[in-house]
Amino acid sequence: MAGIPLLKLNTGNMMPVFGLGTWQLTRDTAGTVAYALKLGYPMIDTSSDYGTQPGIGRAIKKSGVGRGSIYIVTKVEETDDAYARTKSNLRELGLEYVDLMLIHRPPFTAAGQELWDGLIQAKHEGLARDIGVSNYSTGLIDELIAASDEVPVVNQIEWSPFGHSEEMEKYCDEKEIIIQAYSPLTRTNRLEDERLVQIAKKYNRTSAQILIRWNIQQGYVPIPKANQRKHLEEDIDVFDFEISKRDLIVLNGLNERYSALGSLPYA
Ligand SMILES: NC(=O)c1ccc[n+]([C@@H]2O[C@H](COP(=O)([O-])OP(=O)(O)OC[C@H]3O[C@@H](n4cnc5c(N)ncnc54)[C@H](OP(=O)(O)O)[C@@H]3O)[C@@H](O)[C@H]2O)c1
Repeated sequence: MAGIPLLKLNTGNMMPVFGLGTWQLTRDTAGTVAYALKLGYPMIDTSSDYGTQPGIGRAIKKSGVGRGSIYIVTKVEETDDAYARTKSNLRELGLEYVDLMLIHRPPFTAAGQELWDGLIQAKHEGLARDIGVSNYSTGLIDELIAASDEVPVVNQIEWSPFGHSEEMEKYCDEKEIIIQAYSPLTRTNRLEDERLVQIAKKYNRTSAQILIRWNIQQGYVPIPKANQRKHLEEDIDVFDFEISKRDLIVLNGLNERYSALGSLPYA
């Protein structure tokens, strides 16, 4: 993971501060991921329901990138047997272990203790180095912790200047849970926002780069998705400039609890 900084999880393990999302990265998954690996993308996010695991596995194998140099995140669904799904995810990816396994979303009526227990077992057996959650509210995370004493390392949630939550940020700070930011580019819906465009111009960068950098500088971990090579190149080209504190405050002020997916499930 040369060049891209790492951050420490509450287990002591390290995770890159930035990665590639792969939802709907199905046009040529293996080819796109191979190109991303060549550019130095240090982390890939997938899920059992994205259909991208086999292509990611092929790209990793072909790339010659050492297993220790690429960080893989995947997920189990709320109706799964989490332990069994972990094993089938590994088969699809062609890997012995993943770095991070998440519960994709909480089940409809509860925190998903059974799912969590399945992931704890998978972790104890070395199938996942770390485990975490996605789309969880603070209350639901509390429930998991109370029943298991196992604190998730990550809550993967929709997170951008246009949609974030101070309460979630404070909670995650206290529990040393990293916020992994999905749809960090608002699925492009807010890239033309005039206030964002003005800040991007000031730094001679694009709106997408400002959104990615806003996350990284505040300790959130963005996983933008890009099919197009020029987007892949642009999204990783964010490690040679710094948004000022004042502009970070302006960007934080754009919060309107916006969600590209419909609603923020944690807010
Ligand atoms: N845990 C969950 O429930 C959950 C939910 C949603 C997403 N996720 C994860 O988060 C990842 C990212 O979220 P997302 O895919 O929803 O949305 P996103 O990353 O906010 O946006 C993706 C869109 O942005 C475009 N794009 C990428 N780079 C760009 C650039 N530099 N300039 C202009 N446009 C650019 C992409 O275009 P092209 O593809 O044409 O290049 C694509 O249309 C997903 O792929 C998935 O891995 C997780």
